[in-house]
Amino acid sequence: MTDYETIRVGRTGRVGMITLNRPEALNALNAQLMSEVVAAVEDFEKDRNIGAILLTGSERAFAAGADIKEMQSKSFMDMYLDDWFSAWDRLAAARKPIVAAVAGYALGGGCELAMMCDVLIAADSAKFGQPEIKLGVLPGIGGSQRLTRAIGKAKAMDLCLTGRTMSAEEAESAGLVSRVVPAIDLMDDAIATASTIADMSLPIAMMVKESVNRAFESTLSEGVRFERRVFHSAFATQDQKEGMAAFNEKRSPNFGHH
Ligand code: CAA
Repeated sequence: MTDYETIRVGRTGRVGMITLNRPEALNALNAQLMSEVVAAVEDFEKDRNIGAILLTGSERAFAAGADIKEMQSKSFMDMYLDDWFSAWDRLAAARKPIVAAVAGYALGGGCELAMMCDVLIAADSAKFGQPEIKLGVLPGIGGSQRLTRAIGKAKAMDLCLTGRTMSAEEAESAGLVSRVVPAIDLMDDAIATASTIADMSLPIAMMVKESVNRAFESTLSEGVRFERRVFHSAFATQDQKEGMAAFNEKRSPNFGHH
């Protein structure tokens, strides 16, 4: 497996695990970490034995944002010509489901990274926010867009304009996170969730992800039409035959992921 310096990568069963590992900077997202996370995700994408990816940080911080020290002296030309942050789009384009397990700070780019994942499990210690305005900038990895779609204009404006942080409880009631669990249970819960997803049929799980995400990119009628086509195509898989046979034979399905 590739040697990484800013992340730890492993696997448990069919789950590929990525742990952000810059404790000295509360997992601030510098360019090296960005390219390492994207490379690890793309490796898991290619691996047929991986059905879901789990992304996490530390107990203290999922990630406290983009690396401010790295950005401080950048000019407009540096940012524009290097298309700063654009590599994160490759993570957002991942086709396998990604579970984020978030404890502690998920601020700025950290909140944006969590929002690029598909199932967001938060410890009760998690704190979310887009505090970029306090630094004289604004969200740059999709925060103003994904946060608004997730929790609506009123709360997104509140968070992005004041830079305040939101508790896990508020994030759950606002619809930002899938569920909140006691911090001590976070990893067990997240691994169990990612394993459940990874044991489903891989092509069907990918179709589910693609279909749900379609809701963000299209009108309702186009989205429903898209879903119907994908639903029909599920009947081209062996896993549909196996899933329905298992139900009728009153046993657990044994998906072959094809
Ligand atoms: N970038 C670089 N380093 C960071 C960092 C960041 N985003 N966040 C924390 N660190 C570093 C600190 O500088 C500190 O390093 P030193 O020990 O070398 O001084 C170390 O991590 C520990 O941080 P603190 O001492 O500040 O810890 P704390 O517990 O007192 O505070 C905190 C924690 C409230 C999260 C505070 O660190 C903080 O406010 N961090 C910045 C949060 C932020 O503004 N994030 C947005 C970044 S911009 C962005 O993300 C743009 C975008 O849209 C992509």
